[in-house]
Amino acid sequence: MTAIISNNQSYKQSLDRAAKVNWRIEDIIGGDKRLDFTRRFMPEALAQVNEISCLNDMEKIILNQIRGNSYLHLFGLVEEFIVPCVINHVKTTGLENITATQALLHFAEEESKHIRLFRRFSEEFELGFGRRCEGIGPVQDIANAVLEHHPLGVVMIILYIEWMTQYHYLASIRDNFRESLDPQFCSLLRNHWLEEAQHTTLDTLIVEQLVQELEPSEVEAGVEDFFKLIEFLNGGLMMQVQLDLESLARTIDRSFTEAERQEIQSIQAASYRWTFIGSGLSHPQFIATFKRVCPAQQMRLLEVTGIYSR
Ligand SMILES: [Fe+2]
Ligand SMILES: [Fe+2]
Repeated sequence: MTAIISNNQSYKQSLDRAAKVNWRIEDIIGGDKRLDFTRRFMPEALAQVNEISCLNDMEKIILNQIRGNSYLHLFGLVEEFIVPCVINHVKTTGLENITATQALLHFAEEESKHIRLFRRFSEEFELGFGRRCEGIGPVQDIANAVLEHHPLGVVMIILYIEWMTQYHYLASIRDNFRESLDPQFCSLLRNHWLEEAQHTTLDTLIVEQLVQELEPSEVEAGVEDFFKLIEFLNGGLMMQVQLDLESLARTIDRSFTEAERQEIQSIQAASYRWTFIGSGLSHPQFIATFKRVCPAQQMRLLEVTGIYSR
């Protein structure tokens, strides 16, 4: 009973906080809010272009902007499996716990808005960059492939992504006075962070509810699928590294030698692994929830996190 009351309070608090944030896409991009293509879009901590010795300064800015574009694409993609996953979960809460239902519907609504936000930024990118930079896909097929996994595995993936979003803004943008980044991209990451703060609470509640309802063997199966999904997502990220390299070569009209390709690929592969996997898995709050879900697999999580860390 105590747990139900405290969960209800968490749902209510999430709704109250969400009501205070609730920005509109038009407040963030469009009109006089344009992308500044003379600047970098992504913080170096998340794009890691500086140490690529075969690129000059201008080429590094262009690769950084291509990473900005892939950030939009990849976040848009993950939101496409988050929305149906949350909606499926809402069906299980029912109208008895109407506060939870409202909070979760609002969660799905915000993620739908984020898909529109990322798509809107992608349009601006293509317009200003002057050419299309490909992202992995088809997006719907990837989202469907994720959703075929155990629901617990999927919500745990979503949870690490929510914590990862927190990390991206707090560790790389908020107090970053060293880099003069495009203001619209900084605003994108800030506004996404503001709403994702509520999602971490809600997704933790979803994970905990699922664990309570499942038999231990089902929890194990869910955790197993979580690890499979990490590998699946990593496969997609490594394909994105290749697409970025092709976009870069076309944009700067340069054919790279094999050694140059290898240098760019290995630095970018490590960057993608950290930015989109390691930075979320290593978040202390994610580790704490994982420990409650599956204490027996703590060491495995640590080992896997090591693979995706710098
Ligand atoms: Fe989001
Ligand atoms: Fe989210």
